[in-house]
Amino acid sequence: MNNLLIYCRPGFEKEAAAEITERASNMQCYGFARVKDDSGYVTFELYEEGQADLLARKLPFRELIFARQMLVLTHDLADLDQGDRIRPIVEACRDYAICGDLRVETADTNEAKELSAFCRKFTVPLRQALRSNEILTNKETPNRPVFHAFFLATDHVQLGYSYSFNNSEFHMGIPRLRFPSDAPSRSTLKLEEAFHVFVPKEEWDLRLTSGMKAVDLGACPGGWTYQLVRRGMMVTAVDNGQMADSLMETGQVKHLRDDGFMWKPSRKNTYWLVCDMVDKPARVVHMIADWFQDGLCQEAIFNLKLPMKKRFVECEHNLDVLRARLAEIDPGFIIQAKQLYHDREEITVHVYNRYAISKLQPA
Ligand SMILES: C[S@@+](CC[C@H](N)C(=O)[O-])C[C@H]1O[C@@H](n2cnc3c(N)ncnc32)[C@H](O)[C@@H]1O
Repeated sequence: MNNLLIYCRPGFEKEAAAEITERASNMQCYGFARVKDDSGYVTFELYEEGQADLLARKLPFRELIFARQMLVLTHDLADLDQGDRIRPIVEACRDYAICGDLRVETADTNEAKELSAFCRKFTVPLRQALRSNEILTNKETPNRPVFHAFFLATDHVQLGYSYSFNNSEFHMGIPRLRFPSDAPSRSTLKLEEAFHVFVPKEEWDLRLTSGMKAVDLGACPGGWTYQLVRRGMMVTAVDNGQMADSLMETGQVKHLRDDGFMWKPSRKNTYWLVCDMVDKPARVVHMIADWFQDGLCQEAIFNLKLPMKKRFVECEHNLDVLRARLAEIDPGFIIQAKQLYHDREEITVHVYNRYAISKLQPA
């Protein structure tokens, strides 16, 4: 087998397939994607031996928009004996490099929900078997591959591995976040997920820290503002709607009933710009680029609504426009884009300038 397995949001298999096909061919790796609608995954079959492994190592996972996880698929074991699933798995993976972690997973579909409980239960005995056969180590060793057992049914598993330096660190590629009971809207989880996905944890003290100034465009009722406030930031929330009283009572929020596309701060002391206004992606992209061009913020997170058709092509187009605008300002800008677990018909984009960040000092 010389395949990649990509997990994605169910319903976005075509986008994940178009993306991996294009990104792989940019690296002279050619193949074709097998897609089953609403399955939550895509298989990409490479023509040349060894190229699935090459892509798993060298194609930066963080640059894929629609992929939740990317792994090298090595075995497809169907018709497993329900009394002994472990033996064929261990036999199949004897020549694996020693892995540092095990993830027993399934697709993120309604049909596969029942399989999740099975996967959870199966993890412990499989881990023990892999350890006693020295396929998995229990020593704390960084950069070991991650062993994935991806169940399609209780008698059908696909086996593979990902590289811990180039994968999603989350089980099934989904960060498990708890909804804070005092948050004013569920979309609070979207910004929290974006922080987890885009900002390395070890840099949170520097980049998501108390005392920073933030602007939230399209803020009401305040789910995103809540995430900024809980990190001790002072937030200007721009929206004609009603902000949650609980946020206003913190004294950290200034609410302006203005047009988010027109309003600009009078001083250049905003660190974070976040924007959840639903509008034409082209309009949002230019507005964000204007903020950076005028030096009005240091980092930004915002949503781009996906069109009904040609979703991957349109995404790429809007991101290309943003790339071109930012490149004119400074070569240090980095753009990351992802369809997050909490995104539906949109993607979330993060912009920062690596040179500006390297100069940040602890508060
Ligand atoms: C999806 S909601 C934002 C939800 C918010 N992020 C939260 O977590 O609670 C979009 C908001 O954008 C606001 N909005 C849309 N166009 C706007 C504009 N031109 N200026 C300011 N706010 C706008 C709407 O009033 C709405 O409250």
